[in-house]
Order: sequence, then C-alpha cells, then structure tokens
Amino acid sequence: MRAYGFIDAGGPEKLTVLDVPVPEPGPDELRVRVRAAGVNPGDWRLRNGDYGVRGPAALGREVAGTVTALGPGVSGFAVGDEVFGGCPGMVGGWAEQALVTASFTAQRPAGVAPEVAAALPVAAGTAYDALTALDLPAGAVLLVNGAGGGVGIPVVQLARARGIRVVGVAGPGKHDLLAGFGAIPVAYGDGLLDRVRAVAPDGVDAAFDLVGGEALRTVAPLVADRSRLLSVADKPLVRELGGREVERDRSTAVLTELARLVAAGSLDPHVTQVRRLDEAAAALAWVEEGHAVGKVILTP
Ligand SMILES: NC(=O)c1ccc[n+]([C@@H]2O[C@H](COP(=O)([O-])OP(=O)(O)OC[C@H]3O[C@@H](n4cnc5c(N)ncnc54)[C@H](OP(=O)(O)O)[C@@H]3O)[C@@H](O)[C@H]2O)c1
Repeated sequence: MRAYGFIDAGGPEKLTVLDVPVPEPGPDELRVRVRAAGVNPGDWRLRNGDYGVRGPAALGREVAGTVTALGPGVSGFAVGDEVFGGCPGMVGGWAEQALVTASFTAQRPAGVAPEVAAALPVAAGTAYDALTALDLPAGAVLLVNGAGGGVGIPVVQLARARGIRVVGVAGPGKHDLLAGFGAIPVAYGDGLLDRVRAVAPDGVDAAFDLVGGEALRTVAPLVADRSRLLSVADKPLVRELGGREVERDRSTAVLTELARLVAAGSLDPHVTQVRRLDEAAAALAWVEEGHAVGKVILTP
C-alpha cells in the first residue's frame, strides 16, 4: 500500500512516498482504512531521527478511518466501525491503512467529520490533559504560550468552557482568531511581560507553554506557583524552571469526551488545511516552520 514517510532519518529532503505492506494488528490494536490523518510537530522530529525510529517508516500519529481488522482479544469495536485514535509507536498514520491503539481509539460520531476527528487525539487530547492536570477553578487566569497552534486553540476553548480566563500569547496575525474563541490575545516579543500584566493586573494563576526555549523562560516568572507551569514543548527546561510536563491520558474515554464536545459545538480543532497524502511534504513544512494556524490534515 501507499504511505508517506522516510527510509533514512534526516531533514525534509528525506520525505518520500513509500510502498509498504498492509500492517497486521496485534493485541490492543485495530487496523483502519485511513480517511484522514493529522500532522503534528512530532512528525518532523520523528523524521529527523529524534525518537530513534528507523525507516522505512510512515509518519503520522493520529487518524480517523474505517475498521478493517481487529487484533487478537480486542473487543468493543467491529469491522466497518468509523473510529479515530492514536497510532501505536506514534508512526504509520500517513498511509492507506494504519494501525491504531484500541485503548486510545473511540467511535466517531456521525456529526464529526473524519478530518475533524483526526485532529483530536494528539493536540486536543494534550490540551484536555493539561487542563485536567491544572484543575483551575472558574475565574482563574491561564496564560497559553503559543495559543494559535494545534494544541493552543483547543486549550483556549476548553478553558473558556470551564470559565477560566485565558491570555493567549501569539503572533499578531492570530489575535482576531483567538479573541473569537474568547481569549485575550497578547503579542510575544519585547515587552511581553508588561503587556500580560496590563491585561491581567492581578497576575496569572497558571501557564501552559507550547513553544519552549526562550519563549518559555520569558513567561515563567509570571507563575509564582511553579507546579502550575506546564510545557509539552520543552521538557528539560520546564523541569529546570520548577514546572511540569503534561502526563497524557491516552484513553478511549478522553477521545469520546472530545468528540462529544465537538458534536455539541463547544470544541473546534480549527482545521485550516486539508491536503492530499502526496502533498505531505508541503503540509509538514508548514508545521515545521513553527507558525501554523490550528491543525493540518492529510487525506489518502
Ligand atoms: N504529549 C506531548 O508531549 C505533546 C503533544 C502535542 C504537542 N506537543 C508539543 O507541543 C508543541 C506545540 O504543538 P502544536 O501542535 O500546538 O504546534 P504548532 O501548531 O506549531 O503551534 C505552536 C504555536 O506557537 C506559536 N509561536 C511560535 N513562536 C512563538 C513565541 N515565541 N511565543 C509564542 N508563540 C509562538 C506559533 O505561531 P505564531 O508564532 O504565529 O503565533 C504556533 O501557533 C510542539 O513542540 C509539540 O511537539 C507535545
């Protein structure tokens, strides 16, 4: 079958169309005919060789599709079900058929398009888990660093739905979008701390960083209680700063809840590009450049 990934790890020039065998599902796995697959920053890191995965390997860590086979002992799903979920080992989704982890897969409600469902497991799932970890009360102020990207947009919406006030740090081109989702947009760059203090004069109760590096270092002083400083973009630095990573809950229950929120109209992962699988290099280049808006989806 046709897939898209790499043979030797390395830069963007290593991306290529692959001809690989149709995968056989093992325990806790389903095989799906892929209808849509998400693009995430982790995909270019995997291609770079950062996670030690050797090629040939198809990229893609989340998909929506139609079940074509069940692994041994898997229950709760049947061939023909429309599902969405995360791929085992964070690989294999950019393909005609892919494996998903059964315990991190959910039924896709009819009202949730495959292109939307495929955008949920990684980014919206991470957003959901971050809010669970922070457990902020209504009225608290949450700063989201990198608020206009794949994780940022769902975290803004999920936080607003809980009555949390959100300061969204993003490039100026994303400010109208963020304001539309109920965040107070603030531009990054020189003077950021003053701009945040101007819109949140009583301080910030927590921060969720999606950028890392200097951008994380800059906002850390805003959070007095460092157990409320989270990052999924720079784990070593957030630990050094006294903060925490986000522990992921890769479960069917979380995915089911996210799909329910989408169907109810209270969560929109904001898919801004849907591209064909053979355009995967261009799709990944946009995400790798680091300023993508919302989510990018591939269709086989
Ligand atoms: N479980 C996990 O560990 C996990 C899961 C999901 C994601 N992640 C990681 O989390 C990070 C974010 O993922 P994502 O999918 O949201 O990426 P993304 O879609 O690329 O979003 C990142 C956002 O940060 C903004 N940004 C860039 N420089 C900035 C700066 N200096 N200050 C504030 N914002 C800035 C970008 O756009 P603008 O500059 O235009 O505002 C972009 O919207 C990645 O590093 C990813 O690998 C980890």
